[in-house]
Amino acid sequence: MTDHTRRTFLKQAAIGAAVLAYPASSVLGANDRIRVGMIGVGDRGNDLLGQIRGVHGVEVVAMADVYSRRRDEAKSKVPGIQTFDDHRRLLDMKDVDAVIVASPLHCHVRHFLDTLAAGKDLYAEKTMTWSIPEADKCFAAAKESNRVVQIGLQHQSSGAQMDARQMIKDGWVGKVTSVEAWMSRNTPRGKGQWVRPVPSDCTAQNVNWSAFLNGRPDRPFDPFKLINWRLFWEFAGGNCAENMVHQIAWIMGALDLPLPSAAYMSGGVFSEKDGREVPDTIAVTLDFPKDIVVTWQSSFSNKHYDMADRILGSDGTLEHHFEEAIEYWPEKINRPSGEATKGSSHNQNHMQNWIDCVRSRSTPNAPPEIGYRSALAVHMANLSYKKKQRVTLEEAKAVTPDY
Ligand SMILES: NC(=O)c1ccc[n+]([C@@H]2O[C@H](COP(=O)([O-])OP(=O)(O)OC[C@H]3O[C@@H](n4cnc5c(N)ncnc54)[C@H](O)[C@@H]3O)[C@@H](O)[C@H]2O)c1
Repeated sequence: MTDHTRRTFLKQAAIGAAVLAYPASSVLGANDRIRVGMIGVGDRGNDLLGQIRGVHGVEVVAMADVYSRRRDEAKSKVPGIQTFDDHRRLLDMKDVDAVIVASPLHCHVRHFLDTLAAGKDLYAEKTMTWSIPEADKCFAAAKESNRVVQIGLQHQSSGAQMDARQMIKDGWVGKVTSVEAWMSRNTPRGKGQWVRPVPSDCTAQNVNWSAFLNGRPDRPFDPFKLINWRLFWEFAGGNCAENMVHQIAWIMGALDLPLPSAAYMSGGVFSEKDGREVPDTIAVTLDFPKDIVVTWQSSFSNKHYDMADRILGSDGTLEHHFEEAIEYWPEKINRPSGEATKGSSHNQNHMQNWIDCVRSRSTPNAPPEIGYRSALAVHMANLSYKKKQRVTLEEAKAVTPDY
């Protein structure tokens, strides 16, 4: 074989392998239907099902969920949908182009990696993974693949994010050394935040329990943990993984922040004394190498101040309330001619943005890279809470995750 024919052969073999590995969406045209499968269709999955069905040119053809109730609900909503209790059967389907994952946090890594290995594009709910080593693996796999991956950090598609980036780039905010963020909720006395009732059909017969456990130590079926996985470290990452991740991703995106250099977190289970492990009251401090400190606080027993982010700069202040336009105030001492104003960019539809990118093969608004950076901030904070000490990035990366 000459060098030329060898090169041609290798090229063709590579193309053949690529086509085999990526059968469908790599050849999608603007008018082709995109066939979507979903893994984990509980609360959030049902929201996302509604969103994806609103996107033109998409058909939801399959779903996988370990709980029969969820499969029955999906069948009644989407006639003809194929359902499975094992996500691998869904990923075997040649006519699934793209997959939405909304499973519990401890399953994200498996569903993320398996979806990419099956050659499908991916919409993966936040937080990207349950641990730092898992985040490393998913980020590496996403970089190596040519799949379009959107993380479910929908505030990255907000008009407020675009306006904040622009105002910061245009110098309206000046030097930022400090960012304050918080989120707060409340529930009627006696009703714990996040606690869900267990449906009467949630029995061992109706649940693929070992698939839910996903490698966690085996034990008899526990319906409370299946439904309320959020309350336990083994499956969840507490409110940092549920909510701080959205805000820290938004702040990191606006200011183009690298990974934190250190995290401190204090707090505890102070208001929801119902047997949960993850804290309800939290104060996080994140140090960044660019001389910036970000604080995030959260409470489940007072919601007066709701949730917001404030970027405090030498020349101006940005205040961001979710779903609302960003507000800007100049610091008159450094920017005397500046005027108070509001952002005007429209929110983009995060799901539509993913599908547009599946067609155009461009990078979506919340790529794995912001999923990775925000996940590391979450895990550094949680490690600090568990160790009851400040944790640097290097220390956090050296830790073997435990629950
Ligand atoms: N982006 C957002 O604003 C937002 C909002 C809420 C939740 N979320 C995220 O969505 C994810 C799901 O949260 P939720 O509240 O919908 O939880 P949920 O418990 O209501 O739903 C999870 C579903 O996954 C199923 N499941 C469990 N293990 C599975 C497995 N191995 N394979 C297939 N299915 C499995 C469960 O039966 C359930 O139906 C979480 O990561 C959460 O953080 C994101």
